[in-house]
Amino acid sequence: MGKSTLERKFSHPCFFLDLRGLPFTKVSLQSHSTDGIMAIISSKKQPQEPGEKPKKQRGVAKKTQKTENVLSPQAGDGERGKPEESIRPHRFADYIGQKDLKDVLEIAIKAAKSRQEVLDHLLLYGPPGLGKTTMAMILASEMDVNYKISSAPALERPRDIMGLLVNLKPGDILFIDEIHRLSRMTEEILYPAMEDYRLDITTGKGPSARMRSIPLAKFTLVGATTRVGALTSPLRDRFGLVQKLRFYEVDELGKIILRTAQLLKTPLSEHGATEIARRSRGTPRIANRLLKRVRDYAEVKASGEINQDVAAEALQLFQVDPCGLDWTDRKMLGAIIEQFNGGPVGLETIAAATGEDTQTIEEVYEPYLMQIGYLTRTPRGRIATTAAYQHLGFKPPNEQMSLL
Ligand code: ADE
Repeated sequence: MGKSTLERKFSHPCFFLDLRGLPFTKVSLQSHSTDGIMAIISSKKQPQEPGEKPKKQRGVAKKTQKTENVLSPQAGDGERGKPEESIRPHRFADYIGQKDLKDVLEIAIKAAKSRQEVLDHLLLYGPPGLGKTTMAMILASEMDVNYKISSAPALERPRDIMGLLVNLKPGDILFIDEIHRLSRMTEEILYPAMEDYRLDITTGKGPSARMRSIPLAKFTLVGATTRVGALTSPLRDRFGLVQKLRFYEVDELGKIILRTAQLLKTPLSEHGATEIARRSRGTPRIANRLLKRVRDYAEVKASGEINQDVAAEALQLFQVDPCGLDWTDRKMLGAIIEQFNGGPVGLETIAAATGEDTQTIEEVYEPYLMQIGYLTRTPRGRIATTAAYQHLGFKPPNEQMSLL
């Protein structure tokens, strides 16, 4: 049996961690906008193996990025490209964590294979950086089929999705990232495609309009979203499997970091890996990014080997606190506590106090703060918990009352 959310929350090393006096200043943050994040980036049978010569990728539309934020779980430049590909696990056997999800998918794959059918359409949801794209690629490897990757902002016009659909081969996996952002027209093209593997095309206008149906190859749509609640119900209902990716435990992240270090040929101790894991916000993408920054530090400021001290020094320099909180997290919690007596306070007010947009707060910052038990969400607004007070060095309200 896996741990309950509550047990996980309380087993987090940062629960009640006292960090009074920790120096912390503002880090420059990138825009979290995911506009135009990518066009179709890939269609290939076997992903590249670590150490293999990188293959050329077609049509990668790069996301523009102002400054790097090492704690952003959203993919930055280079991370949709070759370096990320070389450390991505390609099989379930190499994939660490998400046990419940892997169990469900392995059963679905075995059943589909034994019936010689395509896999049911799958919706993956959860915060950014937890491995939704990786999971889709692994599905393709395990099913031994091709995959195509796209994202909703790249499928604005009906002809974008039509072009993708008519070129699918039997069994192919079509991955659509940020699926909650599909336009109404694109969504309506997807309904018959998902249900009956059919593309309905209307030609002409008014009374002379004609509908034509084109048969499509049987395929699997894998949709990914950070906002499952933003999907329309007709779209959500067409997925046979709806699965959540959860934040990773520190020990799972430690194993991921050790695996990546081995692929990067970076000497790393187990304690060094744990130090990085604790500050990775339960997110493999952040863990691997922090590892690379610590590797730079170790090579320039130390012997090149990463142990616990080197990892802690490097991450303090990068202003990543021992719980993985950054300036915005601290600013958010600090504002709720100092300006609004701990809450409840509305999302818009928090956005104004931190200078972040509401969507980024909801999708990037809040899920982790809630996971580690620093923030609760109520219908009347957000509330900072006792743990958040203690983390920031404030006296929790019940202690303040008892002093009166
Ligand atoms: N790299 C990124 N995510 C991973 C995972 N879940 N398992 C192994 N390596 C990873």
